[in-house]
Amino acid sequence: MDGLRQKVIAIAEAAGDIMLTEQDVHVDTKGTKENYVTSTDLKIERFLRKELTSLLPGSAFMGEEDGTSGDDDPDRPMWVVDPIDGTANYVRGIPMSVVSIALVKDRVPILGVIRHPRLDETFSAAEGEGAFLNGKPIHVSERTREHCMVCTAWSCYNKSRAPLCFDVSQTLYGICEDIRRIGTAAYELCLLAKGSCDLYFEAFLAPWDFSAAACILREAGGCIITSSGELDCTRPSIVLAANDSGNLEFLKGVVREALSRHPEANIDIAF
Ligand code: IPD
Ligand code: CA
Repeated sequence: MDGLRQKVIAIAEAAGDIMLTEQDVHVDTKGTKENYVTSTDLKIERFLRKELTSLLPGSAFMGEEDGTSGDDDPDRPMWVVDPIDGTANYVRGIPMSVVSIALVKDRVPILGVIRHPRLDETFSAAEGEGAFLNGKPIHVSERTREHCMVCTAWSCYNKSRAPLCFDVSQTLYGICEDIRRIGTAAYELCLLAKGSCDLYFEAFLAPWDFSAAACILREAGGCIITSSGELDCTRPSIVLAANDSGNLEFLKGVVREALSRHPEANIDIAF
């Protein structure tokens, strides 16, 4: 996998360069006023679809903007790609947006690369081979729950779930150190992987938001689950992640209790 990881890193870095250099960006919204799509998202996704499917002939491709192709055979590995995670940041000139590329097989990511072009940071991992930031190994923190920094968000594209998210935030804020909302789920999960942050909760994420980061986080020693209680990178889900299994159990308890107070969120869990 190392050869493939290096090739995907080169492709992610080229995609990040498009994000940095694109001029005359056209901005639109999709679905809700908060949910942006730009001409750069579309340009990067087209570039990635071409490069990644020719790198692995026969692979399927799922992108945030242009949908899925080649998924008629469930045994095929699938590229799961977000051309820009943190599009609202990109539109506003907040320098926190990444390119996210995962290769998913049997519902789990076997390779993940995340490129933050403004910080010149490339996170990468392949199943069983460890996680890296710019080629150096990374690892999750050993913080106990009282010292956790939490990354989260409040369901900005579907605000009917915001009360649930605020409930989870209120409990965690009382117990842990503090909360960050950076605006790119993929990068926030990388912050867990490198030990800067320690807990993560969001309702809902799409597979392109979390698949690459899930590979990186697991290879860095962290834990991540979707609503099934396992990790399923083929469907949108709530996502819980932690630096270790003890803190994940704690987070599962907080989310279970919040869900019991918020049936209107309409989320089924199996944990
Ligand atoms: C969003 C970002 C954001 C998260 C949303 C995602 P996008 O992705 O990751 O941090 O809170 O749930 O949808 O729309 O910028 O690709
Ligand atoms: Ca996106």
